[in-house]
Amino acid sequence: MDIRITVICENTVGTTLPAIGEHGFAAFIETKTGNYLFDTGQGFSIIHNAKYLKKDLTSIKKIFLSHGHYDHTGGLTNVLNVKQRVGVYAHPDIFSKKYARLKTNGKETYRYIGIKHKKEYFEKRGAQFVLNSSFSEVENDIYLTGEVSRTTDFEKGDSRLLINDNGNFVSDPLLDDQSLILKTKQGLVVVLGCAHSGLINTIKHIMNHFKDEKLDTIIGGTHLSFLKEDQLDRTISHLKRYDFKMIGASHCTGLKAAARLYQEFENRFFFANVGTSIVIN
Ligand SMILES: [Fe+2]
Ligand SMILES: [Fe+2]
Repeated sequence: MDIRITVICENTVGTTLPAIGEHGFAAFIETKTGNYLFDTGQGFSIIHNAKYLKKDLTSIKKIFLSHGHYDHTGGLTNVLNVKQRVGVYAHPDIFSKKYARLKTNGKETYRYIGIKHKKEYFEKRGAQFVLNSSFSEVENDIYLTGEVSRTTDFEKGDSRLLINDNGNFVSDPLLDDQSLILKTKQGLVVVLGCAHSGLINTIKHIMNHFKDEKLDTIIGGTHLSFLKEDQLDRTISHLKRYDFKMIGASHCTGLKAAARLYQEFENRFFFANVGTSIVIN
């Protein structure tokens, strides 16, 4: 085994083990050079699920955070409680004040959906932040996209996602959204948090950096759940241009978009929920 990626936090559970589902995402990555954690879920399930899935959180060399939303960063404190000193790689905007605009009974409300604590709080518990906004190699053959270039004309961000800018709610550019890339003999393996930059923007951004590589597997949250039919059509038709081997949909993909991905990609599609494990040789 060269690389194994196991989903340890996700909205649903796909194993008979007594694991917990929660709205969120985290993946445990085992490689020849060490183990890594990508995202941390909300914090309710990571410790419990890691135990039952036999993934030792004290063994992780680095933590990568896809963006600041609570459902990806909420478990950071829990992980630091067991791991203590560890490098945490993320974009500086993970600490921006992120909100979601909700409509309840016809009324607009705003809910805080950002990271739970300030940087210093995590640092006191052992987090050694490496904040970077550009594409970077974070380990041998492991890369973070940094800010993803928005190059497609159809991938508009989710207008419900906002930041509080001195009392004013404005659209969150989500520049902190980034994905992890593992360069393997089989090709590139891409691990997504929510792909708020747009699934196609993310893939295009990655392939621009790896012109001679082929795309092998995409796994994680695709944030396709809020798309109108025409935008989803365009996403699918662009996705078909990439000769990837497998796509594992998680989290904010949503059932409707996941069903569509299955319809389009059939045996190249899988659900990636708690307990799903992929091995790349
Ligand atoms: Fe999410
Ligand atoms: Fe998100």
